[in-house]
Amino acid sequence: MINSSCWLVAVLLMLCLVSTATCAIALAGNKRAAPSTAMCTRYTSASLVGDVDLSKVTPKPVNCPLGCNLYTVSGSALGYNGPLGALGPLGPLGPVSTGTPYNVPDNFVWYGNNFNTYLKEMNACDKLLSHPQNPLSSAGPMGDAFFDVMPKINDFTKHMMGMGVWTVLGPLGPLGPLGALGPLGPVGCHMLDVDKDGQFVSKKGEVLRTTSVVYNSSLTVNWPLFERYKSREFVDKLSKKGLLDTSFMVSASVDITGHAYDMVVTEPQYVTVTVIPTLWAKNFFLEAFINGKSVMKSEKLLFTPWFQVHISGADLQNAGPGGAKLKVVIKTDPLDCGMMSVFGCTMDYTMHVVGSTSFMMRKPHLSYTGPHIKQCE
Ligand SMILES: *[C@@H]1O[C@H](CO)[C@@H](O)[C@H](O)[C@H]1NC(C)=O
Repeated sequence: MINSSCWLVAVLLMLCLVSTATCAIALAGNKRAAPSTAMCTRYTSASLVGDVDLSKVTPKPVNCPLGCNLYTVSGSALGYNGPLGALGPLGPLGPVSTGTPYNVPDNFVWYGNNFNTYLKEMNACDKLLSHPQNPLSSAGPMGDAFFDVMPKINDFTKHMMGMGVWTVLGPLGPLGPLGALGPLGPVGCHMLDVDKDGQFVSKKGEVLRTTSVVYNSSLTVNWPLFERYKSREFVDKLSKKGLLDTSFMVSASVDITGHAYDMVVTEPQYVTVTVIPTLWAKNFFLEAFINGKSVMKSEKLLFTPWFQVHISGADLQNAGPGGAKLKVVIKTDPLDCGMMSVFGCTMDYTMHVVGSTSFMMRKPHLSYTGPHIKQCE
């Protein structure tokens, strides 16, 4: 919906160039005048992207190395055999798994669960995050190349910004630099200690949720740390205190009654939630609520379940002080339990939640349209 307030904002942004003072005053005024109804939340998900009709998507993906249609089927990177699935880097054989059903011996490949300690011992991380060309700097995938170069490589990478067809495989998703495998995660080079619950702590023992990293010679960015919480019970406690942000992973066993997670979002951004099955090809049902309102359900078989929502400025404004509430519910798919579902059906998963941060909204993303994006009415 294009309404007069959009034009107002556009005009105000032009004014910003003239005078920042005018801008602050004018934008504050506009905030008060804005209508209280929420703008519609946009989302995309495994259910919507899997087997999507690309001819209805804009910009239309045409130029992919092997033909774009091959990249949306269940045999593609989005499917259960791809990097998001149980056999990928986020699964039980990868460097961030907690315990494994496959009895991989300790010290095998990833140095048990102590890869971080290993990096420390090797002095492999010395001042990495204050190096002018670190993985989160302007020289990396979070730099302006995200906006200027990535969309031009081919039509596959063109769809890796927020709400693109392959966004979940791109830099804002669970495999990207803001996720578990990146510098802010449990095997990252921040060199922070971890407490018994999986929280990062300073040398003085204070819990840290963010860390600042050099972006360029004039800017340091405060990024959310990506915690590997040790138990769902602890995550529940953080939820109840309103301290659960959108940057963490946790493993648990769930049945058909489901688990709920309540997160708080304090800045406009894309949030991507992925549920990695511990056992190959198992499926989970996912539902998301923003400020108490159901916004999406994902139930498709043969694709690793995930969704991405855009938390807008309006969602934040509606929520009032304290931030927007994003609730995620995960249930087992009873079909996957077969006969066993009569006796209750419990399956293991690891949930990865990755917030894009408002820093990655500093320039506009491509505006994608198509059947892979939905919005509440
Ligand atoms: C650092 O990055 C910010 C944000 O893109 C930009 O405004 C600033 O000009 C950059 N500084 C230098 C020295 O390049």
